[in-house]
Amino acid sequence: MSKVTVIGAGNVGSTVANVLAHRDFLNEIVVLDIKEGTAEGKSLDTWQQAPIDSYSTRVVGCTNDYSKTADSDVVVITSGLPRKPGMSRDDLISVNAGIVKTVTEQVIKYSPKAIIIVVSNPLDVMTYCAYLTAKVDSHRVFGMAGILDTARYRAFLATELNCSPKDIQAILMGGHGDTMVPLPRYTTVSGIPVTELISEEKLNAIVQRTKVGGGEIVNLLGTSAWYAPGAAAAQMVEAIIKNENRIFPVCALLNGEYGLHNIYLGVPVKLGKNGIEQIIELQLNNDEKALLDASATAVKEVMEVLDKMNASAS
Ligand code: LAC
Repeated sequence: MSKVTVIGAGNVGSTVANVLAHRDFLNEIVVLDIKEGTAEGKSLDTWQQAPIDSYSTRVVGCTNDYSKTADSDVVVITSGLPRKPGMSRDDLISVNAGIVKTVTEQVIKYSPKAIIIVVSNPLDVMTYCAYLTAKVDSHRVFGMAGILDTARYRAFLATELNCSPKDIQAILMGGHGDTMVPLPRYTTVSGIPVTELISEEKLNAIVQRTKVGGGEIVNLLGTSAWYAPGAAAAQMVEAIIKNENRIFPVCALLNGEYGLHNIYLGVPVKLGKNGIEQIIELQLNNDEKALLDASATAVKEVMEVLDKMNASAS
């Protein structure tokens, strides 16, 4: 019996539930929202899609009733305000930190053994906030950003090379913001180093577009993306529930890895039934390490805002 809860029935949360339902490996998905009827309506819609698309996943919605989420194996937290044009992810911190804290308290009360995946922005700091609140080992609390950012990078490369995005393997590190660190040296097209297929100038332009890839969608739609973010979170859930030991970039707590301490940042990990089974340390060159350090500094600045908020609240 596998049960997954998705907190937040907005665009991202309802996409996570819908994608997971289609994969047909969970017994139950509970979707919870604070807005009366939203989670119930979207869950019912997804359940009514089951006979058409042929899946058995039971999808149930509820309004703020955490008892329905009890004993979930994995909980995905998507609650919080999305970005509007002109806002950075960091602008969301005060509102979303309060929301993530309240949600995490309830989640861990009803599912003390759950693995928690955070999707709320600013991602790295909201994941840290959930970790501080949940008070469980950090291999059970981590964030979704790297798969999304890497997917954007892979999609842009696929467009440029006119090839299938399936054949592009890549890894990207750092915070989920404009300081993220795509790694061309670790990017291949079916094993062929991408640098053999594309000019440096074009590759740099793609790296740059990737860094602001979330903002590109916010500018087009007036709100944040949801299809790719939802699918990315669902892929993490699948790796955990099926104990796949997949290697993904994930926002994880670092304690000495990459020379960084007490910070949540995107790094490659192995994801399996215990959550983060292993943090993988790449041999970064000096340039790559400098970019990662700059990203860590940017995330630390936002973490300090959260620490100050916590200090003044206690
Ligand atoms: C994005 C938001 C979800 O990158 O952070 O689209």
